[in-house]
Amino acid sequence: MVVATIAPPELGRNRRWIVSAIVIVVMVSVALNGEGALAQQPLYKDASQPVELRVQDLLSRMTVQEKIGQMTQIERTVATPEVMTQYFIGSVLSGGGSAPEPNAPAAWQDMIDTMQQAALATRLAIPMIYGIDAVHGHNNLYGATVFPHNIGLGCSRDPDLVKRIGAATALEVRATGIPYAFAPCIATCRDPRWGRCYESYSEDTAVVKTMTDIILGLQGDPPNLTAGVPFMADKSKVIGCAKHYVGDGGTFKGINENDTIVDYDTLYKVHMAPYLDAIAKGVSTIMVSYSSWNGERMHANQYLVTQVLKEQLAFRGFIISDWMGVDRLSDPNNPNYTNSVLKSINAGLDMIMVPFDYEAYISGMLSLVNDGEISMERIDDAVTRILRVKFVMGLFEDPSVDRSLTNHLGSQEHRILAREAVRKSLVLLKNGQQGSQALLPLKKNATSILVAGSHADDIGLQCGGWTISWVGAAGNTTIGTTVLDAIKAAVSPTTVVTYEKNPAPGFAAQLKPDYAIVVVGEEPYVETYGDNMELTIPLDGIPTIQNVCAEVKCLVIVISGRPLVIEPYMPQIDALVAAWLPGSEGQGISDVIFGDYDFVGKLSRTWFRTVDQLPMNFGDAVYDPLFPFDFGLTMGTKESL
Ligand SMILES: *[C@@H]1O[C@H](CO)[C@@H](O)[C@H](O)[C@H]1NC(C)=O
Ligand SMILES: *[C@@H]1O[C@H](CO)[C@@H](O)[C@H](O)[C@H]1NC(C)=O
Ligand SMILES: *[C@@H]1O[C@H](CO)[C@@H](O)[C@H](O)[C@H]1NC(C)=O
Ligand SMILES: *[C@@H]1O[C@H](CO)[C@@H](O)[C@H](O)[C@H]1NC(C)=O
Ligand SMILES: *[C@@H]1O[C@H](CO)[C@@H](O)[C@H](O)[C@H]1NC(C)=O
Repeated sequence: MVVATIAPPELGRNRRWIVSAIVIVVMVSVALNGEGALAQQPLYKDASQPVELRVQDLLSRMTVQEKIGQMTQIERTVATPEVMTQYFIGSVLSGGGSAPEPNAPAAWQDMIDTMQQAALATRLAIPMIYGIDAVHGHNNLYGATVFPHNIGLGCSRDPDLVKRIGAATALEVRATGIPYAFAPCIATCRDPRWGRCYESYSEDTAVVKTMTDIILGLQGDPPNLTAGVPFMADKSKVIGCAKHYVGDGGTFKGINENDTIVDYDTLYKVHMAPYLDAIAKGVSTIMVSYSSWNGERMHANQYLVTQVLKEQLAFRGFIISDWMGVDRLSDPNNPNYTNSVLKSINAGLDMIMVPFDYEAYISGMLSLVNDGEISMERIDDAVTRILRVKFVMGLFEDPSVDRSLTNHLGSQEHRILAREAVRKSLVLLKNGQQGSQALLPLKKNATSILVAGSHADDIGLQCGGWTISWVGAAGNTTIGTTVLDAIKAAVSPTTVVTYEKNPAPGFAAQLKPDYAIVVVGEEPYVETYGDNMELTIPLDGIPTIQNVCAEVKCLVIVISGRPLVIEPYMPQIDALVAAWLPGSEGQGISDVIFGDYDFVGKLSRTWFRTVDQLPMNFGDAVYDPLFPFDFGLTMGTKESL
């Protein structure tokens, strides 16, 4: 089943070269600096020593229990100081939506400092690393800037933009004391029925590859060999996590966590290729996918995790499981958790996102090591990788929260960046009926405007899943500007803006607005909850389109995590914009529809006619979309941004 060779990992080879060059540079600088002043201190605590020597020194001092602790990641709700110290816990996370009370910076900072002090109270004082899903900004945090989800960023085709978003996200995450973001998702989503499709930049691997530049924003640029500086001993940066390795976006019918049935060549070219870019750009960690490849679970796939990722692609950071990903390996009718741990660790996973039952995990690990079922060599490989990342990021030198960064959370500067990202992610799909005038740009000085639809005045719907809570929710869930607020701020002071969520037949005809703006779309969802075989517009979106567009000139804006069924309504719709899941800054939409900026977005996905066509991707032999991949109109009003 398994193909023994892969295409030469060109980027992986460069990365190996980079890492060995760093070791040499650092060793030379150590030789020049000499030693003596810190003779009393263990070598691993000496920041002037090369990272690899510090790792080996520390590893040589550790007990098995201390090593297993480093390989353990637990949820914040079980991470009491006693647990942190007693079990030598190496890492803590927030699950989706898991936040201290109140969900405000000081509570996060205090919580993380308390856990860190408990970790540092252990014999060897190894700092813990706290991780969180910051997948479109620091999305668990009330008041953080919420950036567009990846599907929209893919439409921008702008790697520099995502790099700047990465840098802004890193600052907001650090503002709460967190040094580790589980991002980016570099899935190549091949079927929009998948509930995580919006977390994917594109169906096209080439687009996903360029968007890995977000890693440079999150973590900082790869090391400057001339200067020989550590990679990112910088509190304005976080370590990133490329996920979910590999084939998460290729599952059967887009079913979440299901089976990706493709040959190795296709797996490599379509789904694995972006990992070469991520590794070359220095990504520190990689998360394994819940899904399977040809029937074998990725969490137990020794070939793809160890032989390909660690050996052939020369990845030197650490590999983390997904949330309870190990548990999923067990037959639910006859569970044997210890056996699942055995399979995952021997496949090559280094850190396990347990996240609750750390006692079962740790005792299972201890017995597996004692029985010789997991070798000490495997444990040392895992711990070496985890410690390497912790040393390189400067965590030993500076483990405490930097509270001076607090004002970056939801800052004006970041909101302006998010607004730019919204503008660049919009895709204009139709502008005026055949043979008649274009509707866009809309006139700001209209006498009367009708705004309608479920998504016109709702921050929660506009942000989608992974916002404040795991699933996300409708309503005023966080701070931002709705599309309606943005429209009101953009039009002339004399323009009367009427908002009616679901206008009945006759309402628009009676109002006689100059034009209507109808904003409809999907409800928030995540992961398996988002799997959807119908892909129709919910929340009365269709009657609202029909009632309004039958009576007056209308622009329809679709807010969704993927293309939806729209073909039957196209004749009535005068203009159509795909806005994806834009996040907290609705003015990005008003900036473009009123003509201050032109559209630059191009579809990152194929827009299907009917769900029967799925999966259907750019390059397929049979390809008959409503709008093809890369489609996007402009208004011709302004120079491109
Ligand atoms: C790398 O570091 C050297 C020495 O500090 C500096 O002169 C050079 O400009 C740096 N290069 C980059 C690309 O930052
Ligand atoms: C894929 O989904 C089908 C249908 O729900 C299920 O029977 C099967 O077990 C799933 N396969 C995997 C590998 O999860
Ligand atoms: C569970 O798995 C472990 C590790 O493979 C094995 O030693 C043990 O016997 C199994 N337990 C049962 C009840 O099968
Ligand atoms: C409205 O603005 C357009 C250009 O933005 C201008 O051509 C037109 O004269 C204005 N109409 C009124 C009534 O002010
Ligand atoms: C959100 O809050 C604003 C202002 O307080 C209010 O006008 C609006 O109706 C609220 N929206 C929702 C969906 O609750």
